[in-house]
Amino acid sequence: MSNYHIKNLEEYFDVYRKSVNDPELFWEEIAEEHFVWRKKWDKVLNWDFKKPEIKWFEGAKLNITENCIDRHLTANGDKTAILFEPNDPKEPAQHISYNELSERVNQFANVLKSKGVKKGDRVCIYLPMIPELAISLLACARIGAIHSVVFAGFSSTALATRINDSDCKLVVTSDGSFRGAKSIDLKGIVDEALISCPSIQSVLVVKRTKSNIEMKEGRDEWLQPLLENASKICPVEIMDAEDPLFILYTSGSTGQPKGMVHTTGGYMVYSAFTFKNVFQYRNDDVYWCTADIGWITGHSYIVYGPLANGATTVMFEGVPSYPDYGRFWEIVEKHKVSQFYTAPTAIRALAKENLDYVTKYDLSSLKVLGTVGEPINEEAWHWYNDNVGGKKSPIVDTWWQTETGGIMISPLPGITATKPTYATLPLPGIQPALIGDNGEELKGNQVEGKLCVKFPWPSIARTIWGNHDRYRETYFSAYADMYFTGDGALRDEVGYYRITGRVDDVIIVSGHNLGTAPIEDAINEHPAVSESAIVGFPHDIKGSALYGYITLKETGEDRDQDNLRKEINQIITEHIGPIAKLDKMQFTAGLPKTRSGKIMRRILRKVACNEIENLGDISTLLNPEVVEVIINERL
Ligand code: WT7
Repeated sequence: MSNYHIKNLEEYFDVYRKSVNDPELFWEEIAEEHFVWRKKWDKVLNWDFKKPEIKWFEGAKLNITENCIDRHLTANGDKTAILFEPNDPKEPAQHISYNELSERVNQFANVLKSKGVKKGDRVCIYLPMIPELAISLLACARIGAIHSVVFAGFSSTALATRINDSDCKLVVTSDGSFRGAKSIDLKGIVDEALISCPSIQSVLVVKRTKSNIEMKEGRDEWLQPLLENASKICPVEIMDAEDPLFILYTSGSTGQPKGMVHTTGGYMVYSAFTFKNVFQYRNDDVYWCTADIGWITGHSYIVYGPLANGATTVMFEGVPSYPDYGRFWEIVEKHKVSQFYTAPTAIRALAKENLDYVTKYDLSSLKVLGTVGEPINEEAWHWYNDNVGGKKSPIVDTWWQTETGGIMISPLPGITATKPTYATLPLPGIQPALIGDNGEELKGNQVEGKLCVKFPWPSIARTIWGNHDRYRETYFSAYADMYFTGDGALRDEVGYYRITGRVDDVIIVSGHNLGTAPIEDAINEHPAVSESAIVGFPHDIKGSALYGYITLKETGEDRDQDNLRKEINQIITEHIGPIAKLDKMQFTAGLPKTRSGKIMRRILRKVACNEIENLGDISTLLNPEVVEVIINERL
């Protein structure tokens, strides 16, 4: 008997012990009993963190869409797979059954094939949260094409960088997207990006907003007519367990985003197993994750994890504030949502509004609440627990990353006693370690250090697309034989983990992972700017917001500062997207630097957070005098 679905705390400890004592046996049993394979593996796990090389279920053959779709058709073909709730509440919801999903994925897969897309080709998907987004991922997976979803809030420059990094052959987009009262011209953004993307041969366009767009002859085609003429049967491409399933970009410490590569077999097993357990999903439940499929949360916990379990997964096109701040709760009532998974930034924003927006809806269908993306503060946790969950729905504070592919540390609802702001205990198969300042592992409880993982789990990203050295450098070089997460964490007196935040140059703004380097690169392109440094500071709703210290060239010194601020945010919007705009910009004559010329972000961070009492020793700086000026002129 495998331990696929854990039902009580005793079982959790038992399963956890087993998963650590014999990880291979543990995952083998789960893989064997709960998934469809065309051929079993020769070896469960092959790994070496030094190279690094990680292979799960080597030699096995499968197609993930057989696991997410085909195998459910006989018994559950009429069950709703995707429940689509449009941006506008007046537009009816769509209940897409597993049968219908199967037909639409097969048709889409055939269209991709007709465009010359083959196994291993990269397909860029730049779509709003409409059913075609989920369907396009699955269509790629069906024929073995590697999908690279780019969040549809990214700018044309950011889109072009990602398309070029992995030489995508085709883009799937739409005429536009609805976001609350606004509509956005997605196709225009794609057209602009494609000026500098020589690898793209075709663009498939979904009609959504019916806005007037330009179609480029020989390159662009409307998707719907092609789908209507495509066969509803498309045999699966048989994939190796270690064939790439998708690339998803995340920011890092240089301007070039990191294309994290996830492979097929291990990712499927882990995303499905964690979905089942972290949300305690039961057959008739309606599960809703509010994330965008443009992020890993949507890949693993809107598409693959839920569908592999035959679940009903809600996809919401809109925003929490439209037509008013009750929209989330209206949807929960309307579709009798059982599990609701969202981000702390959304909770904080909604908690600021009148409580009537929550109380006027019947939320009694809710059984489990989840959060992800950043540390949740105690106040937001209690608001969520009291007002949304009515103190009866456990909150799962799930810690994980784009790189981990699935949830790593989280309570199991109704099983693990929750503690506000704590992600609590590692899931089976996850062996966290906290590392001290001298690189030593901190054993025992009541310790705080850098969070690492000692042993591979099935859904760890296998490489960075086209840059294995950077993969090694970023994740495996800080500490020998460990995966380094970039986060700090503490372990309390009972062994619960609390994530304390990033310890590197990544800042989480409204749950979006932003590297400082790409933003600084963008700012430095402004002709008046000489140099810049970005740090985070606490923000009521966003969690963290961005504070920029900017030095100007001599020619820029007499420019109007308000205009400069606007222009700089405009450049950031063009290069990355509006999510990376700065909340504060301080123009300064210099940035504090070490004698080797490295910017001392630690000091800048403290000034931005108004923690000026304890700046540490600044006497060894190259230019200690600028610190006082920066403090006096802080915003
Ligand atoms: C970073 C990863 C995982 C999907 C969404 C974000 C932070 C994530 C939590 C949490 C505290 C969290 C970490 C992590 N983070 N979840 N429950 N508590 N911090 O994926 O964009 O790759 O960001 O988000 O700092 O390293 P991502």
